[in-house]
Amino acid sequence: MRRFVVGGNWKMQISQVEEAVRITENIANAIKNISMVDVFIAPSFNALYSVGKSISNTNLKLASQNIHYLEQGAFTGETSILSCINAGCEYVILGHSERRRIFGETGENINQKVLKTLEKGLKAVLCIGETAKERAEGRVKEVNQSQLAGSLKGVSQTQIEKIIIAYEPVWAINNKFLNPDIEIKPATPHQASEAHAMVRDWFRQEYGDSIANSIQIIYGGSMNQKNAEELLKIDDIDGGLIGGASLTAKTFLPIIRSAEKLSKQDPEYEWDSNTLRFRK
Ligand code: 13P
Repeated sequence: MRRFVVGGNWKMQISQVEEAVRITENIANAIKNISMVDVFIAPSFNALYSVGKSISNTNLKLASQNIHYLEQGAFTGETSILSCINAGCEYVILGHSERRRIFGETGENINQKVLKTLEKGLKAVLCIGETAKERAEGRVKEVNQSQLAGSLKGVSQTQIEKIIIAYEPVWAINNKFLNPDIEIKPATPHQASEAHAMVRDWFRQEYGDSIANSIQIIYGGSMNQKNAEELLKIDDIDGGLIGGASLTAKTFLPIIRSAEKLSKQDPEYEWDSNTLRFRK
């Protein structure tokens, strides 16, 4: 079984540093005993450093929502990966559909950012996903596989271990700008399962069995405490990337706890005295 990863993407929702620090401290305190799930939070850039300081030495990890693909230079309004490393980031979210569709990022831009993230030793959480229109046209496989191929160009067998894929169907993301004309709802377990299996198959073809079996593919798009367990139970779903429901400890924690509970039920783990270990 792959380890679950649960991430909170705060987008541009919490602008006060003190509030960001308070919420992340609450989350960090509440997950002290969570041992089988990797948890990260991606606050706004202005809060990155303060949040990073307050959660260092906890098992809540820090993520950046974006980076520039170069480390330094005259790029007004951009953020270097060096600033993110300085703040304590271990993850970088890249290729989010809000970046692709609202800010015009292309596969090529995202690929440069992925390569920079890997060069610096951080984990890239690469988001992919189709729109409602693309799904209606029967293009789910084509769109997602082309996003994977474009964003991962030149990523080696060894580097791929630092990649996490977030399958986020655009139509399921709680975002009125991206989805002005449709009712936003999460993918059904069937839709999510089919898409995750298709993504894993792509890795099997391109990188072989061992990587396909180990790569973590997480789901994003209206995941919340009500639907998390049902989605996380699916074989090919290894966690979640959460927007709205990650903005408070109260709504984020139940999702993390569902992942922890499912890990503990997994037959690959066994109790050895009072420690839970992988069954040999
Ligand atoms: P919501 O959970 O608010 O739908 O957002 C999902 C998302 O875009 C996470 O990156």
